[in-house]
Amino acid sequence: MLDSFDRYPLTFGPSPIEPLNRLSAELGGNVELYAKREDCNSGLAFGGNKLRKLEYIVPDILASGADTLVSIGGIQSNHTRQVAAVAAKLGLKCRLVQEDWVPYPDAVYDRVGNILMSRLMGADVELWNRGFDIGIRESWEAAIEDVKANGGTPYAIPAGASVHRLGGLGYVGFAEEVRAQERKLGIQFDYIVVCTVTGSTHAGMVVGFAADGRQRQVIGIDASATPDQARNQVLDIARNTGDLVGLSHAIEAEDVVLMEDYAYPRYGIPSQETNDAIRLCARTEGMMTDPVYEGKSMQGLIDLVRQGHFPTGSRVLYAHLGGVPAINAYSFQYRDG
Ligand SMILES: Cc1ncc(COP(=O)(O)O)c(C=O)c1O
Repeated sequence: MLDSFDRYPLTFGPSPIEPLNRLSAELGGNVELYAKREDCNSGLAFGGNKLRKLEYIVPDILASGADTLVSIGGIQSNHTRQVAAVAAKLGLKCRLVQEDWVPYPDAVYDRVGNILMSRLMGADVELWNRGFDIGIRESWEAAIEDVKANGGTPYAIPAGASVHRLGGLGYVGFAEEVRAQERKLGIQFDYIVVCTVTGSTHAGMVVGFAADGRQRQVIGIDASATPDQARNQVLDIARNTGDLVGLSHAIEAEDVVLMEDYAYPRYGIPSQETNDAIRLCARTEGMMTDPVYEGKSMQGLIDLVRQGHFPTGSRVLYAHLGGVPAINAYSFQYRDG
């Protein structure tokens, strides 16, 4: 589906798939859990899902003649850290708007983890006192105008690289990669579990797995706590991406499966159950997840297995999208493990 699109490699190649045997056994052993490790997909500043998306955006950046990438996220945004890494790798400047999306009081919240790395990679980081919203923000538009006013040529990358014409392509490629890995492993996954916030990861998977009729087996776990907005954004991106790659049938609203029950109490704040899931995964598999994104999708995965949502014998692939650097900003929360 992607042959006609240019791709600039930022990742090591296909990300590994590994069985989660001890976690599967701990949850009763009725389903086989696997993880696809997008969290270790690249040497660029700890990697993650945005690099897979940006691989299809970089050719457009280079063709545009831009000298400055301008993007936006929360203070502990994984996305902006990955944009900063790509800017460094390409020799471009980087301007990052970091909004106050999470009311979290840890004293080092704006000093460690993702934002620390973005600063080290030379990004011009500006903090804005604005709450969470996955839509287009005036702070980001102001930064784009400011780059222009100062003689620069900006290239605008929206939050999560999601509402970008090419933002869904990377995770169409993920589905194609999974199909190739399934052939090698001699198995097929019955479900794919993915964390959803700005939407293009989930949307790309919906389009990619629609090619073999599995789009409704992609289970999005909402971590935004604004699920209606997230669902609409996934659907829009999936439809646009489906048109772009020439998908033979239309994406229906029912193709976007989004579980709303795990994002509480709000975006960026872990619940007791999120923390229990982070600990269980860490202690059975040595696999780290974070309190903002993957901790919530891990919580959802664990709860769905315990509820019997997946029929006995199902093979479930957990897409680990990265995000662990943010855990440093929650040092007080995890001071005793
Ligand atoms: C670690 C991690 N997991 C999941 C997501 C959600 O992906 P998306 O924004 O494409 O929905 C993000 C980014 O928002 C992320 O950084």
